[in-house]
Amino acid sequence: MGQCPGCGEWNTLVEEAPPPGGSRGSAGRAGSAVRAVTPVALAEVQAPRIPRLKTGIGELDRVLGGGLVPGSLVLLGGSPGIGKSTLTSMALGNLAGAGRRTLYVSGEESAAQIKLRAERLPGAALQVPVVAETDLDTVLATLEAERPEVCVIDSVQTLHAAELSGAAGSVGQVREVADRITRLAKARGIAVLLVGHVTKEGALAGPRVLEHLVDCVLQFEGERERTYRTLRALKNRFGSTNEAGVFEMAGGGLVEVADASARFVGEATRAPGSVVLAAMEGSRPLLVEVQALVSPSELVPPRRIANGIDRNRLALVLAVLGRHAGVGVGSADVFVNVAGGVRVDEPGADLAVALAVASAQRGVVAGDGARPVACFGELGLSGELRSVAHPDRRQAEARKFGLGPVICPDAAPTLRAALSAALPARPRARAA
Ligand code: TYD
Ligand code: MG
Repeated sequence: MGQCPGCGEWNTLVEEAPPPGGSRGSAGRAGSAVRAVTPVALAEVQAPRIPRLKTGIGELDRVLGGGLVPGSLVLLGGSPGIGKSTLTSMALGNLAGAGRRTLYVSGEESAAQIKLRAERLPGAALQVPVVAETDLDTVLATLEAERPEVCVIDSVQTLHAAELSGAAGSVGQVREVADRITRLAKARGIAVLLVGHVTKEGALAGPRVLEHLVDCVLQFEGERERTYRTLRALKNRFGSTNEAGVFEMAGGGLVEVADASARFVGEATRAPGSVVLAAMEGSRPLLVEVQALVSPSELVPPRRIANGIDRNRLALVLAVLGRHAGVGVGSADVFVNVAGGVRVDEPGADLAVALAVASAQRGVVAGDGARPVACFGELGLSGELRSVAHPDRRQAEARKFGLGPVICPDAAPTLRAALSAALPARPRARAA
């Protein structure tokens, strides 16, 4: 049925497989008496510490909270071409090299294609056993027979449950596939890395229920054309969701970028419209360059283009700049870009965007011209600067790379104060 007779919405009905062995609910169990269980005090619950499986990729292990937990389900989301298959192949390669039983199930690529990728990768990627299969029952039977310790399913959207008629990747299918894999993984102690697609809007495709079902949701983001990618935990039952890892796609697979700040600061231009943001990537400080360009426009309304920051956040910053700091961009186009394809999703980026736009609008280099200006802080709607998390770590990171004094809420209580600290007042700027 295309349209729901209840609410009138189209394509909202989802097919569900009937439970094996008769009808659902209490009616089906009428014959057998249901007995109550005795609750156990938490202090008496046995919880052995199970050693984690190290993937050998430092950034991935850190984001996972110290490695893969046996029997856990990890959902790895990301747009096409971002490097999900590469990351999971490398992780399995390292595990196989360390003597673990692994299995790579691909519904997207043939075994030959997987091999071509593995040939480029370091480590023991070629030792990983693969199956190219899309039928769910076959995959489950294979898992049951092979009993790997770690398994990759690439991707959850390509597997197909025969008892449902919907196409692979449809909501009902994805839910059924994830549910049955979860049950097998928990029963057999297989750590499963489920690769998932993301929609155009960037959300994990498939029902939200997928995120509830798994223990850990990782998001691999960045722009395909750029080299830097970040791996974030959106949910983690066994670790912190504050962690993030930075990678770079190179000729031989993904390379961890431990010194990302050094690169971004080194590449920062000393031109009008450029400042350095002391951002936090999870619990780790990261210096990134924020650039802005303000140029006359013929368009009505003018363009407001934001790369690497939220578009609404840019609109807010422009409004506060105009209203409380006397920096109006009027009908000019405004472009803001976080260099290197990094995405900063934190209010602490506001001040950097404001300073970059003001610097571009006035055509004045921020700071003394010798070193880039570093800053962080959230903008309040009345033009005040608000404090953000981890000011000490951000300051320390900036100092480490010779930047300072850092413009931050402690040093400048308002946007006006921050602007006069960052931008040298020039006669031309005053006249404007
Ligand atoms: P892939 O891991 O297949 O992305 P996903 O599974 O997320 O769709 O590959 C990502 C891109 O990276 C692909 O376009 C090829 C490129 N790539 C490299 O640049 N270097 C490499 O060593 C590998 C394996 C891939
Ligand atoms: Mg892939």
